[in-house]
Amino acid sequence: MADYDINTESYVRLKDSGQGNSDQWIFETHTLFQAIGDPSGLTVIDLCCGICRLGRRLLEMGAKSVTGLDISREMLRRAEERRSALPAGQRDRIRLIEADLTNSDLALPPVDLITGLYVLHYAETPEAIGGMGRFIARNMKPDGICALVTMNPDLDPRDNLSAAQAELGIYFDFTDGPESRMRMEGFSCRVWRWPRHVLERELGKAGLCDFTWTARDVPDDRPDLKRRFAEALRHPHNVVLTARRAVG
Ligand SMILES: C[S@@+](CC[C@H](N)C(=O)[O-])C[C@H]1O[C@@H](n2cnc3c(N)ncnc32)[C@H](O)[C@@H]1O
Repeated sequence: MADYDINTESYVRLKDSGQGNSDQWIFETHTLFQAIGDPSGLTVIDLCCGICRLGRRLLEMGAKSVTGLDISREMLRRAEERRSALPAGQRDRIRLIEADLTNSDLALPPVDLITGLYVLHYAETPEAIGGMGRFIARNMKPDGICALVTMNPDLDPRDNLSAAQAELGIYFDFTDGPESRMRMEGFSCRVWRWPRHVLERELGKAGLCDFTWTARDVPDDRPDLKRRFAEALRHPHNVVLTARRAVG
């Protein structure tokens, strides 16, 4: 059973309440949307989609179609509830697929944009990072873009991160190794904090290149959010990673 099949309700309740134009949602997605640009007309894959809140938002913003992929049957069941409640014009443009991104050889029609909120830190081993990378490279058009939110590989667990985590309501039990635990109200699961060189090496071998890593930020015209998330902005727990498909 996948980690997100257990206590799914607690996780989903937190994420549902953090949607729309809530402060939390803006914090989670502003920098990702800047990296993506205008999604109008794009075909999209939403990795580790959960209830597919990112995919649904991209559809609202004009994406042509979204394929949401997740390992958790329970998450996908809840994504399907939300998909079927959409107006017909949007509902038919989302499809949901159950797959383990770390070892799936699924080959879909290649898309313009591969994205996802919270992705690479679910790889338990370097080989699993490679599996994710191969999935991305295989399912992205040659001139497509990959833009993901993932755990910040440069985060230093020896720093005092408690105030940043309290602002987010998300707590991490880091160890000296990659395996860590993420805790939120009523929910916890394992995550893996990989160094940047391991991520770039494995993703590079998988056929991706031109990596950029950008700390998440909030819009310049929202000084209230800069104050509200001051510690989380000072100690970014997640970053936006962009990559392209290597030629050849
Ligand atoms: C933090 S949740 C994020 C869900 C969604 N992106 C959101 O922000 O609402 C992480 C998701 O990754 C999924 N996941 C974890 N490991 C996975 C894997 N190996 N393959 C596919 N999905 C995975 C989980 O089931 C869970 O739904």
